[in-house]
This record gives sequence, structure tokens and C-alpha cells, in this order.
Amino acid sequence: MAADDARGGSAVDGSAVDGTDATVDGPPAEGALFDPEVARNPQPAYKAMRDVAPVLQVADSGPLGGVIVGKHDDVVAGLRTPDVFSSGFEAVRIGQVRPLIPLQIDPPDHHAYRKLLDPLFSPRRVAALEPRVRELARTLVDAVVDDGACNFNAAFADPYPSTVFLELLGLPVSRAREFVGFKDGIIRPPATTAEQREAMVNETGRQIYAVLEEVVDARAREPRDDFISGFLTSEIDGRRLSREDVIDICYLFFLAGLDTVAASLDCMLAFLARNPGHRRQIVDDPGLIPNAVEEMLRWETPVPGVVRRATRDTVVSGCPVRAGKQVVMLLASANTDEAFWERAHEVDFTREVVKHLAFGGGVHRCLGSHLARLELRVALEEWHARIPDYALAPGTVLEYSPGLRQIEHLPLVWSPGTEGEMSETETTTETTTETTTGAGTA
Ligand code: HEM
Repeated sequence: MAADDARGGSAVDGSAVDGTDATVDGPPAEGALFDPEVARNPQPAYKAMRDVAPVLQVADSGPLGGVIVGKHDDVVAGLRTPDVFSSGFEAVRIGQVRPLIPLQIDPPDHHAYRKLLDPLFSPRRVAALEPRVRELARTLVDAVVDDGACNFNAAFADPYPSTVFLELLGLPVSRAREFVGFKDGIIRPPATTAEQREAMVNETGRQIYAVLEEVVDARAREPRDDFISGFLTSEIDGRRLSREDVIDICYLFFLAGLDTVAASLDCMLAFLARNPGHRRQIVDDPGLIPNAVEEMLRWETPVPGVVRRATRDTVVSGCPVRAGKQVVMLLASANTDEAFWERAHEVDFTREVVKHLAFGGGVHRCLGSHLARLELRVALEEWHARIPDYALAPGTVLEYSPGLRQIEHLPLVWSPGTEGEMSETETTTETTTETTTGAGTA
């Protein structure tokens, strides 16, 4: 099938398909999507992909192997048909030996787990955490404000959500650094080959299980006021969660709670450092921050894609997808698809409706979205109240990690003692500058 034929077809219809595999064999998308320049500046690459092949087939091996779906309506339809696009154990391997709960449980069983977990992360429960979250943000800003420089990732983005989350779950905060190392070992292992990657991920998985087993057993002996102790006495349909269930929930929480908010903060501070006009808007009117968070989640999409397996032969935008194929729903592409969004490539903090897919969609939509939003809003409020005027350190070329878009080295500089002021002449010092429209992005 020619690329043109693939365009403008129907969204997922779930029907069986006969005949030859007609998905577009495009450019080496996996390599291209992992290219450092694309990771730095992904929106134009996603647009090019949608224009040429909204459904793209790449080699089966590798993290993005299989089929990549890039159009907004196809992604939404795919996420809403879990019977066709399963999120089961085989969808993604991240060192786990059993399905992660609830991410790798398909409906109908999935529902019971969400019924148990949703109340823990309800807007009301999360709002109660705000004083502690704000205190943490202030402490971290206090530690650097007089220095005039920091690596934002190490000084703020990593320790802030880790501390919030470890306290909540009941894992020892004193071991935060070690745990952050574990989640990095799963999400971004320093491997050069697929075999090496698998070995490293499995070894790190074993270490995470060992920590979780130790803590879960300790809480079973001596309960505390934390989530793990709560899980141990929780029931689903009259059945107590088993020790393994609790560990499988915690394994997923460990990765979801430690990495995503940190990666989002990196993306947001990098965006604001490179776009002083946008930064000025939120400094002048902090009331805009909640909307700015949503718009930056849309634009940056820190979790660019989610992975599914086709349970049967099906069709996406007119392109057959074979049963058993890995399917990457490219949230980041959907979030800038001009067929859905007005002014898709413009970052507008006053945009009225930002129904983005950064937290996914369908039954597996992010459980922690309210907590994430609270942490992001409070971080931006506290940081900009004290350090309103900052830039990337001269000569910085940002490197976004492939997969989740973290920036391990994010050096920011500012003039100490100018708290609450914005300088008249604002310059960004990076070698690649970003305008606020995708078309002009360097
Ligand atoms: C800005 C930060 C965050 C982003 C961008 C994000 C993104 C996502 C996305 C895209 C999914 C869907 C995965 C899929 O469909 O395969 C998801 C699911 C999930 N997230 Fe988040 N997440 C964030 C923060 C958090 C936090 C703080 C928690 C802590 C509890 C969390 C817990 C989860 C869980 C448990 C799921 C699985 C839900 C299910 O399968 O029913 N997330 N997240």
C-alpha cells in the first residue's frame, strides 16, 4: 500500500483482515525516533511521520518494533479497544516476572484493581498532600537559590517527586538515590545491544523485587500508616490481595511514581528556559500555571508512547495490523496532530481546552494524574516565585533520553539575589533556540 492510501482511512475498526500485510514500510522510524536531534525536537518528526505514514511498520526487534500509530483519532480509538489492543504481560518487558498491576491486566479484571486504587489518588486525597509537597519544593529551591546555578535534574526534578512518592508508598526515603538508580536501570539502561539491555533490565528488576519483598514483609509484621500497609489488608471481591499482588502493584508504582514527574519537570523547565516570553507569562500571572502545565504536557508529552499487542488481525487507518504485533500508540504525535488540534504547533498557555493524551486514555489512563498535576503546579509556583529569571548555561546542548524524555544534565543559571524580579533583557544562551511554533523550531 502506498503511503497515500494509508492516509485518511478509518480509525481502528477491530475487524479481521485477509490479504498481505499492507502497512507502510517507511524509513527506519525506530532509529529516526531515537535520534538525539529528534528527541530534542520531536514535533516536526512526528508531523513528517503522520504526513507520510500515519501507521508505520518497523522491524519487530527493538523497543519500538512492530507498528507505530501516530494519528490522534487512531490512538484514542486504539486505547479505547483493549480487547483488540491488549496491555497484557507481553506488551512491554521491564524486568517484571509477573504482570504489573493494574497496567498489564486487561478488562474485565482490570476494573476491580482500579476500584481499589483510584480512591487513593482521588482529587480530595491528593489535595491533602499539598502542604507537604510545597514544603519539599521550598526546601529544594532554598538549597540552590543563592548559588545562581544548578543541574535542575539532580537538584530538583529527581529528588522532589521521589521523596513525595516514597513517603506515600512507605519505602525508605533514605534510600531514594539507590531507588532512582534502579528505575533508571529499567527505563534507560546504559546498554549498547538488545541482549545487554535485557540482561541489565532483568538484573535491576531482581533488585527491585528484593527491596519490595523486604519492605512488604516488614509491613506485614508491623503495619504503618502507608500505602503498602493498606494494600496488605485490602480486598478485591472479598479476596485479600496476596503478597505477590502487593509487590506487583508496588513494582509499577515504583517506576511510574519515580520517573514520570521528574521527566515532565525537566521538559518543562527546559522549555521555559528556552522561551522567556512564556516564562514571563507565568511569572506575571501565576494563576496561569495550571493551564501552562496542561499545555506543556501536551507539547512535550514526557511519556511519548504506550505499548500494546494486537490480539487479532485488525485495521488502523486502512492499514492491516497482524495479530501478535507490538503496537506503539504515539501519544506525543497525537498531541500535536493538526487534524485534531487547532494551532497544533503553537504553545499557548491560554488555550481554553487542553484535552491532551499525555496521561494516556481509555481504561489504563494514568492513575496518578491528580498527584502529578499537583506536584507540577506546586513546583512551577515555588521555583518561579524565587527564581523567575533563568537560562540554560551557555553552550548547553540538551540531551533528552529516548523513551521517557528526561534530561539528565539540565544546567540552569540565574543571578542570585534577584528573587521576584525579571530582568529587562532576557536572552537564552542555548545553541539551538526554540520558537513557540513547531514550524520554526530549530
Ligand atoms: C506527569 C507525570 C505522569 C505522566 C506523564 C504519566 C503518564 C502515564 C501514561 C501515559 C499512562 C498510560 C500507560 C498505558 O496506557 O500503557 C500512565 C498510567 C499509569 N500511571 Fe502515570 N503518569 C504520570 C505520573 C504518575 C504518577 C505520579 C503515578 C503514581 C501513582 C502514576 C501511576 C500510573 C499507573 C499506576 C498507571 C497504570 C494505570 C492502569 O493501568 O490502569 N503515574 N501514566
